[in-house]
Amino acid sequence: MDCGITYVPPLFRIFTMEEATVLVVGGGGREHALTMGLIASPSVGEVHVAPGNAGTSHVATNHPISVGDIDAIVGLALSLGCDLVVVGPEGPLVDGLADQLSYAGVPCFGPHSEGANLEGSKLYAKKTMQNLGIPTGGIHLINSVSQIDSALDDFSPPWVVKRDVLAGGKGVVVTSQRDEAYSALSEGLTIDGFVLLEEFLSGEEASMLVMLDESGWVALPASQDHKRVGEGDTGPNTGGMGAYAPAPIVTKQVRDKVYSRIIKPMHDWLSSQEKPYRGCLYVGLMIDESGDPYVVEYNVRFGDPETQVTVPLISSDLFELLYSVATGDLASHNPTFTSAHAMTVVLASEGYPETPRKGLPIKIETGLIAHDDGGAFIHHAGTKYVEGEKLVSSGGRVLACTGIAPSLVEARELAYSLMDGIILEGSHYRTDIGFRAL
Ligand code: AMP
Ligand code: GLY
Repeated sequence: MDCGITYVPPLFRIFTMEEATVLVVGGGGREHALTMGLIASPSVGEVHVAPGNAGTSHVATNHPISVGDIDAIVGLALSLGCDLVVVGPEGPLVDGLADQLSYAGVPCFGPHSEGANLEGSKLYAKKTMQNLGIPTGGIHLINSVSQIDSALDDFSPPWVVKRDVLAGGKGVVVTSQRDEAYSALSEGLTIDGFVLLEEFLSGEEASMLVMLDESGWVALPASQDHKRVGEGDTGPNTGGMGAYAPAPIVTKQVRDKVYSRIIKPMHDWLSSQEKPYRGCLYVGLMIDESGDPYVVEYNVRFGDPETQVTVPLISSDLFELLYSVATGDLASHNPTFTSAHAMTVVLASEGYPETPRKGLPIKIETGLIAHDDGGAFIHHAGTKYVEGEKLVSSGGRVLACTGIAPSLVEARELAYSLMDGIILEGSHYRTDIGFRAL
């Protein structure tokens, strides 16, 4: 939006003990994990969350503001005197929340709307990658029914059909049935006027969350999500049913290729733009049999549930890291990481991902949030309190049970033992999270 005001990037400053006030935007497991990381920082005095969930209400102050209400979020940040706003979901970034916060002079972790287009438009992301020579699959842009058959002939099955809309990872159809691919293409065409057919990339997926500003970039430990709802990666795509980090598929050799072929050209390009990209660039990778990485997708935010297994592995100050990115000073910071392993398992409502059933009571026998030793967390997502103290489900993904331990096997044991203590009628979770690494 052009406000007629010159864009002035906010400047880095040093905070004294408990001086900083932070606002986290969002209400999922990702935001609960970010909130817990931020409150552990000695510089942070207050963390506010909009809208938050039952979990964040125990450790921070929730505000009943929807993530889509940009004016209200900017107003809240100003009235609280926030030193930093950390934006969880992509929607408000695509809609210009970071732009508005910049105009208001509030440092924001999360890119401006143009940068957010890397997630907001799959076509824009593909074109950018093609221009920069970043390895990714080929694509057909289809804008008439007459193009469908020749496009399907051009790629061998399975076919990947994508609508160019934000769909939380659920707007993709991957199928070896030609009639199913045809219907998905014609349906997308009818709704949006165009649709994308993508070349299928085979291999193993990994997620790399990259902290990035114009001064530099730092990749956090690579993780692996489990996008399909069912055991053994079956059934429809979801927002993510569980994750672990570090992901052993990303060996040093693979990582070096990701850095040189994917992250460096993207950072060079982003930092040459007039407005700096400041936030997380989530690189969704497919690593083929020879260890060559390809980009499946970009997201312009932290992953969910990848954040739940990545943020706890950062041993340095999370606030300092996010604040340095938001103020373009990342190059003078060196985040450090523990050698631990983390696993998170998502508990989903009955009917998720199609028609999640909400409003049911949740019983958590092990305590609401964390074990005393800090090695196991219940990250809340779709949870809220009604009638005061009654904890109920309020979303498709309800909770994520996270274990952090010296080995992945132990992290897995911790995560599943937490899950054993949760009762939510009709709910389901995958019992095979981490199967590729274990
Ligand atoms: P996206 O909405 O682009 O995040 O895609 C969601 C999921 O669909 C990815 O995490 C992959 O599991 C799968 N997927 C998307 N695009 C492709 C592709 N070109 N080849 C193989 N799998 C894909
Ligand atoms: N876990 C996938 C995502 O955050 O997009």
